[in-house]
Amino acid sequence: MDRLTPDDYRNGIFLAPMVRSGARAANRLFALKHGASLVWGPEIVDKAILHAERVVDRASIYQCSPVEKPYLIYQIGTSDPELAVQAARVVMNDPFSTHSGMGAALLSTPDLLCSILRALREAMPPEISSRARFETLVLVGKIIETGISCLTVHYVEFVKASGKDIAVVENGDCKGPGCDSVMIARAAESNPSCFSPTPSLT
Ligand SMILES: Cc1cc2nc3c(=O)[nH]c(=O)nc-3n(C[C@H](O)[C@H](O)[C@H](O)COP(=O)(O)O)c2cc1C
Repeated sequence: MDRLTPDDYRNGIFLAPMVRSGARAANRLFALKHGASLVWGPEIVDKAILHAERVVDRASIYQCSPVEKPYLIYQIGTSDPELAVQAARVVMNDPFSTHSGMGAALLSTPDLLCSILRALREAMPPEISSRARFETLVLVGKIIETGISCLTVHYVEFVKASGKDIAVVENGDCKGPGCDSVMIARAAESNPSCFSPTPSLT
């Protein structure tokens, strides 16, 4: 299967990363069944996955179904490029993409943050794409130079004006036009069929 490209992040409606509910494969599969085009798992701290054991058919800190593999984005919580790469290597044969989940502390260390994204891009095979998620305009210019395919931000016009082939995903309070895709968290938790044009729950 080919690597996810920026186009795969366009015209989509995504299940956002959520601790607890997003850790369950059944919830992500339900979102896919009802029209979500990609689903994010919850942020898992790099060291947690390094100490985890991969088991088949047993409940664990992170469940992953083979059915969702082409649509599943794995979110790594990290502040260290080397640990991020190690963690990505542990999981890279299960979900299809990695997503660096950046704690708020990393927003004040943009060089470290970008070095994590670059390390992941360089260490991962081409079929594993990487993406980032940010809210801070001052970082966006550096981030879009790291080789990511998709950026979740509120500063749509800034990314578009850069001319880079990066999909922009809208999430949260920013609901204006111009984004490539939207990402839903809380509404999906209370109504997992909200991705459908005809939701089965209200
Ligand atoms: C219960 C819960 C857990 C969340 N866990 C994560 C997470 O693991 N990683 C992350 O990047 N964002 C996480 N978020 C933030 C959501 O992905 C999303 O950005 C935020 O809720 C705004 O989207 P919404 O308005 O559709 O809820 C979480 C949000 C909620 C409500």
